[in-house]
Amino acid sequence: MCGIVGYIGPKLADAVLLFGLYRLEYRGYDSAGIAVIDDGEIEIRKDTGKIRNLERLLKEHPVEGNVGIGHTRWATHGAPTSVNAHPHADASKSIAVVHNGIIENYDQIRKDLQSKNFLFVSDTDTEVIPQLLKSNNFSKDEEYDIFKTTISKLEGRFAFLILVEDKPDRVFFCRNGSPLVYGRSENEGFLVSDSSAFIASVKEQYFVKDGEWGWITREGIVLFDKDGNRKEPELIEVDHDLTQYEKNGYEHFMLKEIFEQPTVVRNILDKRIGANNLINFSELTMSKDFQAKLFRIVFTSAGTSLHAAMIGKLYIEKFAKIMTEVEFSSEFRYRNPILEGDTLVIAISQSGETADTLASIHSAKAKFLKVLSFVNQINSSISRESTAAANLFAGTEIGVASTKAYVAELVSLLLYSLHLAKLKWILTDEEISVILEEVKKLPKQIEQILEKADSIKEIAYTMRDKRDFIFLGRSYEHPTALEGALKLKEISYAHASGYAGGEFKHGPIALVSKDVPVICITPKSEVYTKMVSNLEEVRARNGIIFSIHTEGDESVPALSNYSFAIPDCSEYITPILSVIPLQLFAYYVAIAKGCEPDQPRNLAKSVTVE
Ligand code: F6R
Repeated sequence: MCGIVGYIGPKLADAVLLFGLYRLEYRGYDSAGIAVIDDGEIEIRKDTGKIRNLERLLKEHPVEGNVGIGHTRWATHGAPTSVNAHPHADASKSIAVVHNGIIENYDQIRKDLQSKNFLFVSDTDTEVIPQLLKSNNFSKDEEYDIFKTTISKLEGRFAFLILVEDKPDRVFFCRNGSPLVYGRSENEGFLVSDSSAFIASVKEQYFVKDGEWGWITREGIVLFDKDGNRKEPELIEVDHDLTQYEKNGYEHFMLKEIFEQPTVVRNILDKRIGANNLINFSELTMSKDFQAKLFRIVFTSAGTSLHAAMIGKLYIEKFAKIMTEVEFSSEFRYRNPILEGDTLVIAISQSGETADTLASIHSAKAKFLKVLSFVNQINSSISRESTAAANLFAGTEIGVASTKAYVAELVSLLLYSLHLAKLKWILTDEEISVILEEVKKLPKQIEQILEKADSIKEIAYTMRDKRDFIFLGRSYEHPTALEGALKLKEISYAHASGYAGGEFKHGPIALVSKDVPVICITPKSEVYTKMVSNLEEVRARNGIIFSIHTEGDESVPALSNYSFAIPDCSEYITPILSVIPLQLFAYYVAIAKGCEPDQPRNLAKSVTVE
């Protein structure tokens, strides 16, 4: 999604803005631009494609100034052209704006302004902001009233920054739904979509809240709430773990993050399992009594996080015996679900900013339900707006295709289901200890899988020309089949569908041919023999089979054209292991096809619009 950066201070703004935009690249974008006040005038440079195109443009047509705003655009309203790229300005170029989100009533505002002879050059919703401010005489009059009146006319979810030629000592901002963070360092100020875009000297930050607006100067921030009351921001420390933003010798962030998974799991286990194998979710601001009495749980999430929720449901039903449902957050928010009694809504999100998941939280809270969120970005909107939030401890995930956050979600949900089982007196400490001893083997087991990455690479290369793939799994491996298919289509653009093995003969089997590989996730489990029947069905029709099986099993490899072994483990552990070869498979197919896995076309890392 769009990324925004604003700067005011002693440094050259173009360099600081470019640095921030490169850091925000991972969010996904199709054009980029900056505006800087140069010698008293707003200068705008913008171009389609990668940020290096903008950098080239800046070399040819430099700008010099110490205050500016920058943007990476992920097109919603209007094609990804340089005219539609941000910043947008009024006709006199005295007010420039960068914006993340959607102005839902832009069409009406635009028509009103056009009737007053305002000329629009782009197809974007954003352009109404500078034009509206101009129509209200913003650059001449007192900023407070005009700004407040103007933003009160805008509907939708957004965060935007404004540069005003007549006011070179400040950058204006407003947030209503899309993320925005203020950063402070000596004699300079920053406004960014997420803290990764801060330069190292920024030591303190403030997460701007919905409805807040104001401006920053070199000295600090002038902040108002939505009613116009002045506020003091509560600044917190910035965590600059720069290794998260480097590839550390890996060709892509996605590969680096796949290989980080043993460390991620170790981290989670360190944080969550204390002495005597006691599971710790003590940070949850939710009483144990409430959790012990839970009658129903409803998961809400999207994409990869939804697949994690599907496995979370199996964990909670198995261990804590609580009735559990899984909802797409994009459906949940609009269908007025029946939510009452001792029900907990659990939101899962890597970014903590997914608009649909955030909206589901709002609808659950409107029905007076408690919401627990599992989030990787712990300072995000989703964690702030939930009743309680649990950190996934996966570390910053840059690759657009989620990998380590998914594994972190699975491990965290497994531990949370055991935590509930204990609160409900379903499992004793001793029984939980036995399970945890097995969970503790995960980092080593994931390492064993990663050591064999080259064999996945070979299989992937043989399949690089295939256009369609089927993924099959049952029980714990049905969500893995969905996740494997999602990873592959996201980054290699091959068509891939995941199915529950039992559904195969109800339709998808018609697709089997030598051109459509079937990836069967077949570790030892209660449904093992049923999955073997699926393999037989594919084999009988001359299909190509790539299977994931348990070490030591000879039957599945004998039925398959290609196979990959994962360590022997309990059934509920298998989805945490079986997804790793599928992440590698997707990555290597993408590489073999010449695709760019870190920035897949049309995709955004955090989906902050509907
Ligand atoms: C897939 C992927 C997306 C996200 C989805 C939800 O690799 O990254 O499907 O899982 O957009 O995002 P979060 O978890 O940030 O809410």
